[in-house]
Amino acid sequence: MKKIIFFGGKGGVGKTSCASAYALASAKSGDKTLLVSTDTAHSLSDIFNKKLGPKEKKIEENLYCIEIDADEEAKKYIEGIKKNISESIDPNVVEEIKKQLEMAYVSPGTQENALFDKIMDLIETKIGGYKRIVFDTAPTGATLRLISLYTLLEDWITSLIKRRKSILNKFEIASKTFPELEKKYKDDPVLKILEKRRIDILKGRKILTDKGNTGFYFVITPEKLSIQETDRSVKILEDLNISIEGIIVNRVIPETEDEFLSQRRKVQNEKIEEIKVLFKEYPIIYMPLFDSEVEGIDTLLKYSKILADQIS
Ligand SMILES: Nc1ncnc2c1ncn2[C@@H]1O[C@H](COP(=O)(O)OP(=O)(O)O)[C@@H](O)[C@H]1O
Ligand SMILES: [Mg+2]
Repeated sequence: MKKIIFFGGKGGVGKTSCASAYALASAKSGDKTLLVSTDTAHSLSDIFNKKLGPKEKKIEENLYCIEIDADEEAKKYIEGIKKNISESIDPNVVEEIKKQLEMAYVSPGTQENALFDKIMDLIETKIGGYKRIVFDTAPTGATLRLISLYTLLEDWITSLIKRRKSILNKFEIASKTFPELEKKYKDDPVLKILEKRRIDILKGRKILTDKGNTGFYFVITPEKLSIQETDRSVKILEDLNISIEGIIVNRVIPETEDEFLSQRRKVQNEKIEEIKVLFKEYPIIYMPLFDSEVEGIDTLLKYSKILADQIS
C-alpha cells in the first residue's frame, strides 16, 4: 500500500464505497489513515453514519475522515484571490478585475483548480501526521492535462513573470525620483500569484508522479461506458508516468440459479473478458454486487475484507 492513494472512475460506479473500504482495510492493518472525500451525493457521512466536515474526525481506530464541499472550496479560492488583489491594486481597476474573477468562477476550470489546490494542500499539511491518505476523488482529466502541459505552462508563466519583473523594475528606477511610486513595485500581488501558481503546479506534478508513494485505483462496472471512460483516463495517467495500482471491477453478479441474473452475468462476463485484455498490465480486482447499499460499518467491513484479500 502506497502513501497517497486516489480513486477514479465514472460517477456512480462505486468510488466512494471502494475508497472507504480501502481506507478501512488500511486502518485495520494498523496504519493511521486519513480518508478524504469531496463528494456530496453518496457521502462518507452516509457510509459511516456520522456527521463529517472539513475538520478531520476519528471514525474507527486508526481511521480519520474529512469531507470537503467542492463549491465552498471554489468560492474560498476566488475570495482569496479577490482579497489579495483589492488590497494592493488601484481601486479603479479592482471592480473590473472582480467582474472577471466572478466570470472565472462560473467557468468549469476554476472549480477543478480550486479542488486540485485543496488536494495538494491537504497532502502537504496532513501527510506528516498519517501513514496514508486515501482520496475518494481523483484529479479530473482536465487537471491532469494541465499537469501534463507543465513544461509549456512553466515556460509561459516564466515569461509572464519576466515581463512583470521588467515592469516592476521600471517603477523601481522611477521611484528614485518619485518615491510615491515605491508601492507600485514592492510586494507586487500579480507577481506573487504567478510565482505561487508555478510552484503549486510543480509541487502537484511532483507528488502525482512520485511512483514510490502515490498511486491510482480505477473503479469500473462491467459496462461499455464505464470501460471506455476508464480506458481514456488510464492512457492519460500512463502518458504522465503516474502509477496505476489496479482496476476494481465493481458490482460483479455472483453465480446464481436465477435465470434473469444468470443472463446478466453472462453479459457481464463478456465485458470482464474485454477488461482483462484492455487493462492486462494491471492487477484486476473483483467486487461482487451486494444485496444492499454499501452503508454502515458492518457492510463496509465485508466489502473491505473482499478488497483487502485481493490487494497487496
Ligand atoms: N458492490 C456493490 N453492491 C451493491 N451496491 C453498491 C456496490 N458498490 C456501490 N454500491 C452502491 O452504489 C451507489 C453508488 O456508489 P458510490 O460508492 O457512491 O459511487 P461513486 O462514488 O462512484 O459515485 C451507492 O448507493 C452504493 O451503496
Ligand atoms: Mg462518490
